[in-house]
Amino acid sequence: MLGGGFPSGHVVLVTGLPGTGKTCFGLQFLMAGAAIGEKGVFLSLEEDVAPLLESARQFHWPVDVAVKAGMMKILRIDPKETRQSLHRIQGELGKELTGLGARRIVVDSVSLLNMLSDDESGRRSTLFALAAACREAGATTVLTAEADPLHPEVSRDGLSEYVADGVLLLGYRTGADGHRVGLSLRVLKMRRTAHVRTVQPYSIGANGIAVDAKAVDFGGP
Ligand SMILES: Nc1ncnc2c1ncn2[C@@H]1O[C@H](COP(=O)(O)OP(=O)(O)OP(=O)(O)O)[C@@H](O)[C@H]1O
Ligand SMILES: [Mg+2]
Repeated sequence: MLGGGFPSGHVVLVTGLPGTGKTCFGLQFLMAGAAIGEKGVFLSLEEDVAPLLESARQFHWPVDVAVKAGMMKILRIDPKETRQSLHRIQGELGKELTGLGARRIVVDSVSLLNMLSDDESGRRSTLFALAAACREAGATTVLTAEADPLHPEVSRDGLSEYVADGVLLLGYRTGADGHRVGLSLRVLKMRRTAHVRTVQPYSIGANGIAVDAKAVDFGGP
């Protein structure tokens, strides 16, 4: 679908309605990296560390091994500690991520991050600072974002698309009667990449996300 995974160093936005698997996608992206020796850092603004680890265990991924080996680190940023969190993102985060040697970074989700600022220019500068910190670390990054419930093709904040090199849309397929019948994935943009533009069905099963296309590669370097 992307001709060999995300381009190295890209910041990719993964948008979707609740339950479409954004968090799962992020964890799976890091586990695939750990399997090929790339260190990953998961910055969680939504879920605490324990439930995230539990989700990964439920998918039978060797997350405990990865954490123990230092191949995967989950950092919790508490949106309730607004000022402290913003200060960290706009200040030390780039150095922190570089120090950890992260090759892959996930931020789950930028929608919560955006709630830290109460005006658009604040949200914009936080998002740009975050993307800059990830790029500074030289990592390939996945930012997750909630889709706008009325316009599920765009993120709720409508800003994240602009900081990203690529956008992946996770959505629900609906049948003729309007009921949800499954999940589908689409690549909306991926700079400097010849990607497919078809809507690709996927499912979340016992081992995580599986896309119904042989060519799809979430794990490639
Ligand atoms: N062990 C599992 N086996 C099969 N499907 C699962 C399993 N765990 C979770 N799921 C599916 O994944 C969905 C949740 O995925 P995830 O939490 O990644 O979604 P999300 O897009 O991050 O949602 P939110 O916007 O609420 O954070 C569940 O609704 C469920 O359908
Ligand atoms: Mg989630």
